[in-house]
Amino acid sequence: MKLVFYGAGNMAHAIFSGIVKSEMVDPKDIYLTNRSNEEALKSYVDELGVNYSYDDQELLKDADYIFLGTKPYDFDLLAERIRPYIQSDNKFISIMAGLPILYIREQLQSDNPIARIMPNTNAHVGHSVTGISYSNNFGPKSKGEVDELINAFGSTVEVSEDNLHQVTAITGSGPAFLYHVFEQYVTAGTRLGLEKSQVEESIRNLIIGTSKMIERSDLGMDQLRKNITSKGGTTQAGLDTLSKYDLESIFEDCLKSAVDRSVELSNQDDESK
Ligand SMILES: NC(=O)c1ccc[n+]([C@@H]2O[C@H](COP(=O)([O-])OP(=O)(O)OC[C@H]3O[C@@H](n4cnc5c(N)ncnc54)[C@H](OP(=O)(O)O)[C@@H]3O)[C@@H](O)[C@H]2O)c1
Repeated sequence: MKLVFYGAGNMAHAIFSGIVKSEMVDPKDIYLTNRSNEEALKSYVDELGVNYSYDDQELLKDADYIFLGTKPYDFDLLAERIRPYIQSDNKFISIMAGLPILYIREQLQSDNPIARIMPNTNAHVGHSVTGISYSNNFGPKSKGEVDELINAFGSTVEVSEDNLHQVTAITGSGPAFLYHVFEQYVTAGTRLGLEKSQVEESIRNLIIGTSKMIERSDLGMDQLRKNITSKGGTTQAGLDTLSKYDLESIFEDCLKSAVDRSVELSNQDDESK
């Protein structure tokens, strides 16, 4: 399977290094390119044993999956660059936030199959939750291959293209929302009189440990919580106070704002993309 990455930036790096580490694809079958930063490409060749090239004809020849990994506003130039060399068996996977399949198709001036993926930053540690939507002409075999590729750096959830906005909010922006909550927890913790560094370190380990409990247990989060909440105990006292605040509505508002903004960004006219 030949993979080509147009754009070898922050997110693309997490994806191709995840794929290389999974040993799903021989690094020799992975080709990188970017706009001009050849040094970056050389460093990935040294690090992972992949290839790089600026010869678009060579890159697209016999390529199975082509990742489109530029910033959305750079895509028009990228489309112009690759348009003349697209072959009928090339399938595209866009990681660009907010660009609809229809728009990508128009810019590429091709009817080739296109998937859109919405990874999150946890791809860097092999734990992205990645939303995927496929164009109607994406065959089942190819969908299976893409699913496997994406699972190399985390897990996947297939949704309709319209619902990518919700995925963007829940898991795309999700790490930032959780970091924000953890930050408040640290700030509140330091007010109890312990050293700030002690509290920060303890809460880091608390979060890591809690995540591992969620990962390794068959129980739901509600049951895990109940298991450590004794009647009349300290945990119960804290939870009683928490339940005086409508946390659910707070998160509902937060997610709704992120969904609305995602819709707004994808509706912006072509010039601002
Ligand atoms: N970062 C995230 O957490 C995240 C999450 C979900 C989705 N995304 C999406 O991922 C995409 C990339 O984001 P990023 O943070 O990885 O960006 P980035 O680090 O700035 O990387 C952009 C890459 O695109 C290349 N590029 C620009 N114009 C090009 C062209 N005409 N031909 C070929 N390559 C070109 C750049 O090459 P040079 O270095 O040579 O300029 C660079 O390698 C964005 O569309 C974003 O919406 C990011």
